[in-house]
Order: sequence, then structure tokens, then C-alpha cells
Amino acid sequence: MRHLISPSDLSLSDINKLIAIATDIENNPENYTKVCENKTMATLFFEPSTRTRLSHESAMLNLGGNILGFSSADASSAAKGESISDTIRTVSCYADLAVIRHPKEGSSLLASQYSTIPIINGGDGPHHHPTQTLTDLLTIAREKGRLDNFTIGLCGDLKHGRTVHSLIEALLIYDNIEFVLISPDELQLPTYIKDKIIENSTNTFSEFKTIEESISQLDILYMTRVQKERFSDIEKYEEVKDSCILMQEHLSLAKNDMIIMHPLPRVNEIDPRIDSDSRAVYFKQVQYGILIRMALIIELLDASNFPVDSAPTHEQTITTQDFNCQNSNCITNSENNILFIPTKKMIQCPYCDSRI
Ligand code: NCD
Repeated sequence: MRHLISPSDLSLSDINKLIAIATDIENNPENYTKVCENKTMATLFFEPSTRTRLSHESAMLNLGGNILGFSSADASSAAKGESISDTIRTVSCYADLAVIRHPKEGSSLLASQYSTIPIINGGDGPHHHPTQTLTDLLTIAREKGRLDNFTIGLCGDLKHGRTVHSLIEALLIYDNIEFVLISPDELQLPTYIKDKIIENSTNTFSEFKTIEESISQLDILYMTRVQKERFSDIEKYEEVKDSCILMQEHLSLAKNDMIIMHPLPRVNEIDPRIDSDSRAVYFKQVQYGILIRMALIIELLDASNFPVDSAPTHEQTITTQDFNCQNSNCITNSENNILFIPTKKMIQCPYCDSRI
């Protein structure tokens, strides 16, 4: 595992190993206080963040490492028009690994193709957020004792919610998971992800518009906020922003051991009175996030885990004229230095997964 760009970079044994390291860190923190001494992590955040940036930084500091970076695009040379490929080639000279959050889909993948240091995708637009997924997997493993055989409700903005996209894709490697998708029509899960569930032999999905219709069958309820920043028309956001709100009354219909998760930040989609319910684990998730990110940093910085990485060759370079992704938010439509990935068939954009 050289980079962590999408959940498909994580095998079952990678996930098991990361969970095992996270558990050992929790039990024996004193053994880990110096493991990243003299190592530096860059956090390159072109989009707002509280948890993802601070959790990675806190993880690196706990491991005895150093941190540098920026927390908004305005504070970087992106404001002067610098490309991601140039930014990452520069940052590769200052740091030993980098976490990138960027509004464009496929941005971390592109950065990884120009990077000489491991890249962690901290969120590429509405596409993927694999370290939140690792956090969620550790939370489920700890709080439910298993990562298979359960019914999980995913509620809210399933269209733009990158945490939902990554969590579903990661869970497809486990058996007998039923995904209950709860959202208004306008915020439904993208078709390409539904197709992945359909292709999978043991997992299924069903769709509902309200929480009350489905909550009684759930082992896990994963709430998400409506992603205001992804709407080009603010009126459309206003129409759907209050469509799925978890109220205290709903919990009387739920199983006693159902857990309520949320990647945070929360806006108004969970009644704050629910915070004191023992089923609410969203603040525990934050704690699990530091442990699993410590494990991930250790793994990515362990040179023995690095596959021999071939540097990008110019034969692989395609111009934006050769390749036009129809998704206007795809990185291929805003950067010129696009590298085609020859191993994937071009049915889907290799950067943002949109159908071509
Ligand atoms: C999420 C994100 O940024 O995608 N937050 C997080 O990283 N914990 C969810 C969100 O912003 O709604």
C-alpha cells in the first residue's frame, strides 16, 4: 500500500492489520511515541476541515513526528493558479508523506501520480474519503464486534456524501451486509455505486425516503449532513436540507443495540438530545479516528510495505483533448497534466468514476 486514494486500495488483510495496530496503540501507547521521529507529514487542505486535518496532525504528533501544511486554498499557491501536480512535486521535497483534501474528484489520484511520497486522500470532492472509512470500520468493529452480517442504514446526502461512498465500497469486501439507503430522490446514491452493490453476491440494498419506515431493521444508522457546498443552486439545497432529521421519538422504534454513527460535522440532522443516548457513538468515532490514522501513518511510512513504484511515463500522458470526462468537477477538466491509468478499461473515468 503506497498511497491511500480510495477504499479499493485496502484489502481485507490491510484493514485487519490496521485495526490490529490501532488496538495495540490503544493498549500500549508508550511504545509508539517515537516511531515517526524525524519524519514529517504535510497536510494540504484546499477545503475546510476540522476532524480530518487535526486528527492526522494529532496522530503524527502522537507518533513523535513533525507536521507542516496549509488549511485553505487561499493560503497556498493554488490561489496563484498552481496545479496540483506542481504542488505535490514541491511538497515531496519537504515531507515524508502528505494528506490532501481538495474539492475536485480525482485530485488525490492525480497528486499520487506525481508524488515521490505516500499520499493519503483526505477527501476529493464528493468522491472518496478513505480515512473516514477506516475510522468507521474501526468504530463498527469495536461497537458491534463484527464487520459482516448486519443491516446498515445510510441516511441524508447519499449523492454528495464522500464518506458514504467510501464506506459502502469498503464494506463490499464483507459478507451479508444489507444497505438501507434513506434519502429524498434528489440525494440518492450515485448509480455507479448501486451497480457495485448489485454486482456483489452477498450484499443487497433497499431504498426509503424516511427514517421511520426503516429504522426498526437497522443494526447501524449512519447519519450524514446535506452537503450545502456541493449545490450550484442554493434553492435546491433549501428544498432538501431538512428532509432527513433523526429525532428522539425515532429511537423508540429502533433496536436497543443499534448504533448511531455520523462522520461529523453535524448541522441539524441529529437532535442534540440524542447525544446522551448510549446508542450514539459519533464522538467515540472521533477518538477511533486518531488511532486508525496513527496505524495508517506507521504503515505508509514503513518502507518495507512499499511496492516498487514505477514513475509515470510520458507514454501514459494524455491531453485533455484525448480524454474528456463529462463530470465538470473531475480533476481532468481543470488540470493539464493528466496521466491515464492504462490498467483500467475506460468505461468509467479513472479519476472520478463517472461513466464515460
Ligand atoms: C466529512 C467530510 O469532510 O466529508 N467530514 C469528515 O471528514 N469527518 C463529512 C462532511 O463534511 O459532511
